[in-house]
Amino acid sequence: MQEVNLGRTGLRTSALGLGSGGFSRLGASQNKGDDNAVRVVRAALDVGITFIDTAQAYGTEAVIGEALQQGRPPGLVLSTKFSYRTGDRLKTPDEVVASLDASLKNLRTDCVDIYHVHGVRADDYPTVLDTMVPVLLRQRESGKLRFLGITEAFGGDTAHRTLQRAVQDDCWDVMMVGFNLLNHSARERVFRATQARGIATLCMFAVRQALISMERLGSYLKMQTGGKGVDARVLQALPLLHGLLDGGQCESLTEAAYRYCRHEPGLDCLLIGTGSVEHLRQNIADAQKPPLPPEFLAAFEPLFAGVAAMSGQ
Ligand SMILES: NC(=O)c1ccc[n+]([C@@H]2O[C@H](COP(=O)([O-])OP(=O)(O)OC[C@H]3O[C@@H](n4cnc5c(N)ncnc54)[C@H](OP(=O)(O)O)[C@@H]3O)[C@@H](O)[C@H]2O)c1
Repeated sequence: MQEVNLGRTGLRTSALGLGSGGFSRLGASQNKGDDNAVRVVRAALDVGITFIDTAQAYGTEAVIGEALQQGRPPGLVLSTKFSYRTGDRLKTPDEVVASLDASLKNLRTDCVDIYHVHGVRADDYPTVLDTMVPVLLRQRESGKLRFLGITEAFGGDTAHRTLQRAVQDDCWDVMMVGFNLLNHSARERVFRATQARGIATLCMFAVRQALISMERLGSYLKMQTGGKGVDARVLQALPLLHGLLDGGQCESLTEAAYRYCRHEPGLDCLLIGTGSVEHLRQNIADAQKPPLPPEFLAAFEPLFAGVAAMSGQ
């Protein structure tokens, strides 16, 4: 498994990370049970994954803590997040600390490597910065977390408003960014700045829902066209992708999706969200294949130039 540096943190991790949220939550969304979730985590560790992402909101911290009881590989990087809102208000400093303490307890550790503020909306960003970051920095001083991260709410913030603002502040060592075959806008809007400042990037939404199959992608693209800056030109992506699959250059759309993100220069660690050991192994093998063919990319990428309205949700 190839390794990468996580920006200026000095952390080194596998280039692929296990995500435990999204639509799978290690299989919890399909009621696959805790034993299955533990198997997925152990299978990831067995093949050399050394980055695991979770969050208070996913309900998967405890099962990850359980899986790690069976052995935590040296150098494993644990990333979790807290929900900064509760109901219709933002959390108080005491509630932020209580969230961190609960995560540490669930994960059965006394320090988390990366602690993110989860899904920050652009309008909330200034308040998060003023009221929560000082609390988090004090927690870092007390040794409960090593690096501070922020994740965008990509489903609604497809143009990266929050992260464009956040890259201007020094407190964030890590950013979780939405990037996939349908939305390359982070390349210009986020990665230029993160690369210049040594901020580590984690890729979410590589497949999400729209890129699971050609059928789903066809319906998704048809629904998106005609509004919010998405014109029918993007439908030309469908024959191009069919050509990739029919020509044997990719076995599946998910393979194309993971390969596309894996080789993006601005992205450090690509998260794979699954509740299936079989999918996990397949995706790890797929993501380690070479970049998509240059002639495909030359035809495909211009169709999405200037399109920042799709998440693939
Ligand atoms: N704002 C945030 O902070 C935020 C938001 C979203 C995600 N995340 C993080 O990013 C991680 C990745 O989430 P994502 O939604 O972006 O994951 P993803 O890897 O883009 O997509 C996962 C979806 O694809 C399916 N899938 C995966 N491999 C497949 C295969 N080989 N064949 C068919 N279906 C396949 C999964 O279902 P199966 O379970 O059936 O494999 C799941 O529904 C999350 O787990 C989470 O850690 C963070």
